Amino acid sequence: MAVRIGFAGTGGIAGAHLANLVRIPEAEVVALYDVERERCDLAMRRLNGQQEQLVRPGGTEPRKLQAKVYTDFRKMLAEAGLHAVYVCVPPFAHGELEFAAIDAEVALFVEKPVALSIDLASQVAEAIQRKGLVSSSGYQTRYSEATDRARELLAGKTVAMALGFYLGGLPGTPWWRVQAQSGGQLVEQATHTVDLMRYLVGDIARVYSAGALRALKEVPNVDIFDVASTTIHFASGAIGNVANTSILGSGTASGAPAGVHILAHDLRLEVWGTTLKITSPGKTEEHRWTGNAMMAQDQAFVEAVARRDPGRVRSPYADAAKTLAVTLSAEESARTGRVVDVPKVPKP
Ligand SMILES: NC(=O)c1ccc[n+]([C@@H]2O[C@H](COP(=O)([O-])OP(=O)(O)OC[C@H]3O[C@@H](n4cnc5c(N)ncnc54)[C@H](O)[C@@H]3O)[C@@H](O)[C@H]2O)c1
Repeated sequence: MAVRIGFAGTGGIAGAHLANLVRIPEAEVVALYDVERERCDLAMRRLNGQQEQLVRPGGTEPRKLQAKVYTDFRKMLAEAGLHAVYVCVPPFAHGELEFAAIDAEVALFVEKPVALSIDLASQVAEAIQRKGLVSSSGYQTRYSEATDRARELLAGKTVAMALGFYLGGLPGTPWWRVQAQSGGQLVEQATHTVDLMRYLVGDIARVYSAGALRALKEVPNVDIFDVASTTIHFASGAIGNVANTSILGSGTASGAPAGVHILAHDLRLEVWGTTLKITSPGKTEEHRWTGNAMMAQDQAFVEAVARRDPGRVRSPYADAAKTLAVTLSAEESARTGRVVDVPKVPKP
């Protein structure tokens, strides 16, 4: 079955998904919508330009994107005969798009963070569940071979501690540095680290966080914390910490710890992207894989929709909402100075 796909939001990350989907024979991107129409045209031109550059085995034509551009999302849902929608809008723009797609009974791929409020994410998760729709979110680190191997190595082990690091620079997208629009670095970006910790260690019960704006005060429009540190209590009893910063641009983060480090008795795993480092007494091994985790994630979603098999998705919307509940609780803790119990999502 060809899976007919539409997009809401056609900026940076949409371009990455489009480049994957055009290589998945079962996927057919037929419709694009963005509040700025020209972003749709640009995304299509860019992708087709890249496809033109491909080496063509046996002189075959590369697959091109021939989607209809819409300036009205509900019209797209009504007309385009979609099976699925990718929602690739900035964090502040979630809500109406998801509810409209759920009304139209299409499967949903919602980029992380799935919202900026636990109530909204809870309502969307419940509505998806009521209609029995396939859903996915954009936590691609769950699909890497390094993560698979780490899970195998941790099976049956008692994890004692998890340390997470997201140490980098300030992204260029203008909404990213505005707290009300992105939710801040932990909610928007280091959420990948928190999500991978949840996938490897389990649910998080309680957080205590400190955050500050120290080095980027003079940068126009920045009102997010540029450094933060979050102490984590896992439901299992393990403890953890996530350190994140956006002050290390221009290569100054190179060589700094990255990803998630898991500690069990006489075992240390460092996992991020395509790399896994395993340290045990007297032995350190480093493994690198070449797989594309985001491609695997898009493939799994398309297959889940085509075969009506939600089990292929490793990060359904409701689970992504749990990661959001952790990061928003940490933000609340940093602002109030209190330990925060992570609320259950969907709310009981
Ligand atoms: N999974 C990943 O690794 C990853 C990487 C980058 C970005 N993202 C996520 O993807 C989301 C988008 O990021 P981006 O870098 O593509 O941003 P972007 O600014 O490049 O693109 C966002 C697009 O959404 C459009 N838009 C805004 N409001 C809209 C609305 N109400 N309806 C329709 N379109 C709307 C904008 O015009 C823009 O074209 C963010 O939540 C970000 O965290 C995920």
